[in-house]
This record gives sequence, C-alpha cells and structure tokens, in this order.
Amino acid sequence: MPDLSKRGPVVLDYPKYSYQFSEFFGIGDNGNLWCDGCDVDALADEFGTPLHVFSENQFRHNYRRFRDAFQAHYPDVKILFANKSNNGLAMRHIMNQEGAGGDCFGHNEMYIALLAGTDPKALVLNGSNKEADEIELAVTNGVCINIDAMDEVDVIHETANRLGRDIEVGIRAKLELPALEDRFGRGVHSGSMAEIVWGEKWGMPYEQTVELVKRIRSQMNNLHPVELHFHLSRLDNQAKDFAEMAREMVQWCAHLRDDTGWTPPAIDLGGGWTFGRKEKTGALGGVDDETVSSFENYGAEVASAVKDECAKHGLGLPTLKIEPGRSISGMAGIAVGRVGAVKTWAKKNHKWVNVDLSGNHVPWISIPHHYHIVAANKASAPATETVDIVGPICTHDVLGHAREMPELVRGDTVALLDTGCYAESTSANFNAQCRPATVLVCGADAEVVTERERLEDVMGRFRIPSRLIAQSYGDALSGAIPPSLTS
Ligand SMILES: Cc1ncc(COP(=O)(O)O)c(C=O)c1O
Repeated sequence: MPDLSKRGPVVLDYPKYSYQFSEFFGIGDNGNLWCDGCDVDALADEFGTPLHVFSENQFRHNYRRFRDAFQAHYPDVKILFANKSNNGLAMRHIMNQEGAGGDCFGHNEMYIALLAGTDPKALVLNGSNKEADEIELAVTNGVCINIDAMDEVDVIHETANRLGRDIEVGIRAKLELPALEDRFGRGVHSGSMAEIVWGEKWGMPYEQTVELVKRIRSQMNNLHPVELHFHLSRLDNQAKDFAEMAREMVQWCAHLRDDTGWTPPAIDLGGGWTFGRKEKTGALGGVDDETVSSFENYGAEVASAVKDECAKHGLGLPTLKIEPGRSISGMAGIAVGRVGAVKTWAKKNHKWVNVDLSGNHVPWISIPHHYHIVAANKASAPATETVDIVGPICTHDVLGHAREMPELVRGDTVALLDTGCYAESTSANFNAQCRPATVLVCGADAEVVTERERLEDVMGRFRIPSRLIAQSYGDALSGAIPPSLTS
C-alpha cells in the first residue's frame, strides 16, 4: 500500500462565482448553477436526470476545515469520516488520500472501506447488534471494535482466539448527560437531549462498562481496550452541548481509572456535528442557518472542555477521535432533477412543478428536512412565483413547499443543495424507481462513480415460486384454470 502522506496534499483551486453557495458551488457567469468547473445544467444533459453531483474538492475542503478546526486547539486529533453518510468507493478513496480514518457500521460498510484501501487501524466498527461475520472481518483485519452489548465481548474473544489474533476494542458508553436534561435540541427527536440518549439502544451503562473492562483485563489478554466511545447524534446544532458531552466522557475516564485501573487512551466523540448555510438547511423546515455552530466553534469549545476536565481530574490528555459524517459530505453534494409537468390551480393560487427527482433519492425529505432548491439553468433569474416542487412517486413527495422560484417550465433543471450526506446511502426503490447515477466533479472533469440503476437491477431480486408459475400459466394453458384465479 503506498504511503499517501508522502505525496503532499492535493492542491485545491478555488473557483470564483458571482454568488457562492459554498466554496465549490455557485452561480457562474452564464447565470447557471456551477459545481467547481462544471455547469450543472450541462451535467444533467450529459449524464441524465435525476442525478447526484458530488464535488471532490468541496469534500476535501470540508474535511480539511473540520480537521484543522480541532487540531488548532488539541494536540492529538484523529478524524474518522462516518462512511454511512456517503459510502461510495470513490468517496472513501478521497478520504484515504486526505488521511481520514473511518467509522463503519456493519460488515458491508467495513468491507467497502477495506476494499478502498483504508488503513484498518484508522477504522472503528460500531453497531448495537454485530453479526459474527462482521466481527470476524474486523478481527481478521485488525479493525477496532466498539463493544455495545455484554455478550459481544465473548464473541470477539472467541473469534480472536480461533483466529489467533490480538484485537483492539473500545466500549460505547451510555452517558447519563445530566447537563443536557433540560436542553431541548433542534434535531427531529422529541424529549430533552438526555432523555433521547437514555431511550436509545446504544451504549453500555457505567456499571456494565466497569464489568466489561474488568473482564477484558482479567480474562481476555488478546483484547486490548483502547477507547471509550459515544455519539450524541444530531440532537442540536450548538457546540456547547457537544462540549458538555465531552466533559462527561472525561469524567467517565476518571471514574474508570479509579474503579478499574484502566484509563481510556482515547475518547471517541462520534458524529452529529452540524453545518448551516444562510439559505437554510436541516430538519424542521431548515433550522440550520448561518447561526449554527461552525466547525471552528466545535473545535474550540470541545477541546477546551476536554482539557479543562482532564486538568480537574488529574488525567493526561487522551487522543481525541471524532466521527463527522454530514458535516464533511453534506455540502459536497447536490441532487439534480428535470422539470416535467407544471400544474396550476388559479382558484387556490397553487402551482406544482413536477420533477423526476423523488423522495426515494433524498429520503430525509420525510423528516421533514429542508433542502435549499436552486433553478440550475436559471440560477441568477429573480424569483417570480411561489411553487411546490414535487417528485413523481405516489406519496405527496414534496421536495420543496412554497418555494420562491423563477418561472419553471418543462425541461428546466433544479438542484437540491446539501444532499451529499445520507441521500445516496439511504435511498430507496419505492414505486420500483431506479436510483440515480452519481457524478464526481473535480475542476472541469465529471465522471460517473455510481452507475444509474436499471430496471433489471430493481427487478433482478424478484423470484416466482414454480407453483405460482404453474397456477398462472401451466394449468391455464392446459385449460384447467385454478378456481382461485377465476373467483
Ligand atoms: C456512531 C456514529 N458515528 C458517527 C455518525 C455520523 O453522524 P453525523 O453524520 O451526524 O456526523 C453516526 C451517525 O449515525 C454514528 O451513529
């Protein structure tokens, strides 16, 4: 495996637009939406719609900004890109080149990361109900496993013994979060942030964590505990809540030192770090605007909380691992659809603009999640009307309600911003729809990195039992139509 760190970072060439949505998305001189050096409307012509467009350079930029925001305040930070947010092979290659580790859920996500050449030592495996095959894949390749059930440790131990391997493990904590008991975040869940965490399936309560550490250290000498893990999830968009979570992680480290003699060498603070934009994005109608915590706020507040709490408890600084997903991949992608039927109801002053992109392709729509929508081929045209932008599937499929847009007609293209996270990786086939292709843009280059699904991909898993074939055709052809088909 080549040592990519010796090559030096890929130099990013920042484009200038008349209006910047982000560093690599903006309105070009021709009034269209551009992704880096590519006109998005032209990409729609070339590759067809619906289409995911992903900016390699925005992805690299987001990663570097996030990493630097933490490294500016903390001596030992490891960034593990949350593969689930966008688990394309090409995306994983880019993260490898940037030096990112990865958070994997399940056998397949870990397999994809390993296939892309990610250093297994830079990966962690998370999950509340790990299967034997994923534990075996992790043990064989030396991926750290974050234990999330009492008997999981036995399966890991048995697997490590059988394969004659040593393996690093962490423990996922069930923090109690008293500091967040009265904090109601701006995620989609209901209840205080602490109550939400208490009710989740994730994590080991403190007493069980102590028991696990004691068992591992006394009975399992080929298991090496290396981290304490927690994931606050996307419960809010304010750095101070994440700083409170980080404080409690350090408090657990101090208690574990006192109760077991083991001090976690690393704390892994999971993901959930938000990003915002002035055009709005996010849950509940778009709560993430320019007032949300920036990566720099997160880095400063969390690092200072960890340092402060370590000093209070006489602990050395642990390695800080962070697993950002959406904040790295979100703004790097857009989803493009082409306008079809446009329908008006003058009496009720309503207009629907149908596009070929659907909620299948951006499933967060049902949360409901707000994506800012840009008319890709009329991005600089003034808004003249208020419309609902709707997709083709047989739910209401509202991609954007009451959006101020220029007049849209059949053949125009629209783009939902910030779909680089959890769109492709959570997409569905409802109504037997095919999923879009994804094009990776770098400067003026655009290449397909996910092929467009075809009907045979959607239908290929269907099977018909032979008795049904006989009922439908065989007996019918011989004239003996089963009563069940005639009644
Ligand atoms: C353990 C873990 N780490 C990281 C993430 C990534 O979260 P986000 O994309 O909100 O940063 C998730 C998301 O579910 C997660 O479960």
